[in-house]
Amino acid sequence: MARRLTEKKIVVASHNAGKVREINDLLRPFGLEAVSAGELNLPEPDETEDSFIGNALLKARAAATASGLPALSDDSGLAVDALDGAPGIHSARYAGPDRDFGFGMKRLNREMTESGRTERSARFICALALVWPDGDEAAFEGRVEGEIVWPPRGSSGFGYDPVFQPVGHTITFGEMNPDAKHAMSHRADAFRQLIAACLKD
Ligand code: IMP
Repeated sequence: MARRLTEKKIVVASHNAGKVREINDLLRPFGLEAVSAGELNLPEPDETEDSFIGNALLKARAAATASGLPALSDDSGLAVDALDGAPGIHSARYAGPDRDFGFGMKRLNREMTESGRTERSARFICALALVWPDGDEAAFEGRVEGEIVWPPRGSSGFGYDPVFQPVGHTITFGEMNPDAKHAMSHRADAFRQLIAACLKD
């Protein structure tokens, strides 16, 4: 069984202000205050592992050790079956040095066409890791299944949302109201697991 989080202050192992804000919103109902690795000037480790959970643990371990606080981190991406799981853990880099997701989505469509494979199935994956300064750790992986559509549709959300249509829906994450996306997303799935294991009484 995973350890319960009893501390009231934690560090979010991310320098991404948007991610920290989203995580803070999710943690507030549990009376938790999250400070970011950026605010504490913690170094950002290189993501050298070959899995989402591996990279989430690596970031949380570094932040817990450097801050002396429990640390939470998230690592996420899009896995496309016709590309044997790519871009996967490289989803941010796949969009080029400027993180241009218009380019990233075109590249995805081009590589899927070039693969000669017809399946459109894909999933977003989100790993969450919680690491205590004494070395105890817990990790969870959430998913949402869907398919890649072309052309992109909608301007909500971020990243690859306009080309991802979740199973059972006729609109993409880019067309979906943000609350609807947040209720079914890979991040929501991972958070539900974290809350059940480490935060709920
Ligand atoms: P990370 O910040 O290293 O975890 O990179 C995650 C990357 O995966 C992001 O830059 C996006 O490209 C992609 N990604 C993760 N979650 C989502 C999502 O909910 N919608 C769209 N793209 C996502």
